[in-house]
Amino acid sequence: MDKFKYHILVCGGTGCRAAEGEMIVENLKKSIEVKNLENDVKVVTTGCFGFCEKGPIVKIVPDNTFYVQVKPSDAAELIEEHIIKGRKVDRLLYKDPKKAELISDSKHMGFYQKQIRIALKNCGFIDPENIQESIAVGGYDALAKVIGTMTQMEVINIIKDSGLRGRGGGGFPTGLKWELTYKNNSDQKYVVCNADEGDPGAFMDRSILEGDPHTVIEAMAICGYAIGATKGLVYIRAEYPLAIKRLKLAIDQAKEYGFLGNDIFGTEFSFDIELRYGAGAFVCGEETALIHSMEGLRGEPTLKPPFPAESGYMGKPTNVNNVETFANIPVIINKGSKWFSSIGTEKSKGTKVFALAGKVNNVGLIEVPMGITLREVIYEIGGGVKNGKKFKAVQTGGPSGGCLTEKHLDTPIDYDNLIAVGSMMGSGGMIVMDEDDCMVSVAKFYLEFTVEESCGKCAPCRIGNKRLHELLDKICHGKGTDEDLYNLKNLSQVIKDTALCGLGQTSPNPVLSTMDNFWNEYVEHVHEHKCTAGQCRALITYNIIEDKCVGCTACARVCPADAIFGEVKKLHTIDQETCIKCGACLEKCKFGAIYIK
Ligand SMILES: Cc1cc2nc3c(=O)[nH]c(=O)nc-3n(C[C@H](O)[C@H](O)[C@H](O)COP(=O)(O)O)c2cc1C
Ligand code: SF4
Ligand code: SF4
Ligand code: SF4
Ligand code: FES
Repeated sequence: MDKFKYHILVCGGTGCRAAEGEMIVENLKKSIEVKNLENDVKVVTTGCFGFCEKGPIVKIVPDNTFYVQVKPSDAAELIEEHIIKGRKVDRLLYKDPKKAELISDSKHMGFYQKQIRIALKNCGFIDPENIQESIAVGGYDALAKVIGTMTQMEVINIIKDSGLRGRGGGGFPTGLKWELTYKNNSDQKYVVCNADEGDPGAFMDRSILEGDPHTVIEAMAICGYAIGATKGLVYIRAEYPLAIKRLKLAIDQAKEYGFLGNDIFGTEFSFDIELRYGAGAFVCGEETALIHSMEGLRGEPTLKPPFPAESGYMGKPTNVNNVETFANIPVIINKGSKWFSSIGTEKSKGTKVFALAGKVNNVGLIEVPMGITLREVIYEIGGGVKNGKKFKAVQTGGPSGGCLTEKHLDTPIDYDNLIAVGSMMGSGGMIVMDEDDCMVSVAKFYLEFTVEESCGKCAPCRIGNKRLHELLDKICHGKGTDEDLYNLKNLSQVIKDTALCGLGQTSPNPVLSTMDNFWNEYVEHVHEHKCTAGQCRALITYNIIEDKCVGCTACARVCPADAIFGEVKKLHTIDQETCIKCGACLEKCKFGAIYIK
């Protein structure tokens, strides 16, 4: 690696690839060839840098210059200016929106300053398709240490002492789970990596597998050694083609280097990994449903106990962990449990990766220490709410989580604090909402998702969630009553208490948390038949302000329903009977003459 004067790291994550990232790599290589710089400059395709909002990202080392929104046509200039003339290309540098100054090193950017990268440490740094790059940054060192020098219980104790908890949503102590599986004797045990990642908008696990598959493979082998399993399975959704490709390649390379297969590092320990594909059903992320799906059965959950640690895949003791949980393992082995547990809060150690999305300036993948506040994440890392709008809510935990409000912004993020305020960590979705979001509609959106994704096995979830959705729909149409509000709350609690699996037990959370934190909005919909955010179509009308309309006719020309009338240079009016409330006129009017009532 070191023989090159420069390494040009180009993001090869799904987001940047979709924006012609591969073409950037191709053009950079061509320009390097034209200038005869092949011995001085190496182009490396990496995993996601996290700052997807500003992608495609190109980073040049050793000077750590971070270029944003790069296009294939910028390649020749980057080589000519940065590499040959030693001058940064200012127009491709990140501009701090608050100070309006150019920042060239990512460590000085608000987006990165409060992040600590453990699970994502190699994403955006190494070529995930080249095992040698992984080895160069310590890949498989932890596996060698474990099998060469440690007993199974020593490994389990390190993980227990680190305080690592499962990143797939439940937050169960990882070391304890390993110990339970270890203690269940069997001729065959399994290690399962849960890469189903079904939360809408979440892409933490996909990014880890795309950017650093060797770390996950190494961790699975370490787990196999610790619990006494020789077989690993990764359950991954088929909609993740790039992650699948890189994972397969990494498994082949690991076998070739003797890190997987028989007698690893010349010891008696053997371990192999195979892939199993999911078809994108949210419920198949639930561990018992996942195991059934891998067995070729219907992807339906079963009651626990027995837990997989006792009777899992093919009835054998099985340890199921999430991708991000595994990504923390090798570094804990290498740096020790004390180091890991020094990060985070009393009961939640280490970091958490979040997919930060919604109405926030910096959308992307972030890894933050447990204990950071929502305010720090939204305003410092996320750069605040988009278009100067007012913050309204932040949704964490996906369909199982809840919507938190202004008063929760200073809550330190960890498993227990989020549950205490009516939400949950979940697998790491974090969606910011502003004044234009209607919280009743948000609850309805999540219910729509859970109704669609329910496997239908138990009545509280199959029927109860449908009824909840109907009640929310009625309220959004301005037809709700006080009794409906009462029933909404009551039924939510019944579903939580009686559903068979985690999907149903948590599906009312978005309803309950919005009712707790945004009760006024529910009352407004029911009593005043009003949606202040302007989202519930049945409750709004589009209107024209007489004093502002100049009669430019632009609105009438875009109206798909021919609902706008008026002569040129004269006041226009909207026929409310014909209007389908599409909003096209509002967007088109340059004079601010159209408003929602
Ligand atoms: C409806 C539902 C969906 C789930 N989806 C996922 C998922 O996509 N990925 C995941 O790792 N865990 C998911 N889980 C949690 C798993 O059941 C399991 O707890 C987890 O994989 C264990 O790994 P961990 O201890 O490392 O978190 C889901 C749970 C439920 C109830
Ligand atoms: S709670 Fe829902 S997803 Fe879970 S078993 Fe019951 S019907 Fe299926
Ligand atoms: S676009 Fe605006 S200003 Fe023009 S006619 Fe319509 S309402 Fe009036
Ligand atoms: S909201 Fe749509 S349908 Fe209604 S008046 Fe405007 S453009 Fe026409
Ligand atoms: S995909 Fe390129 S920065 Fe995320």
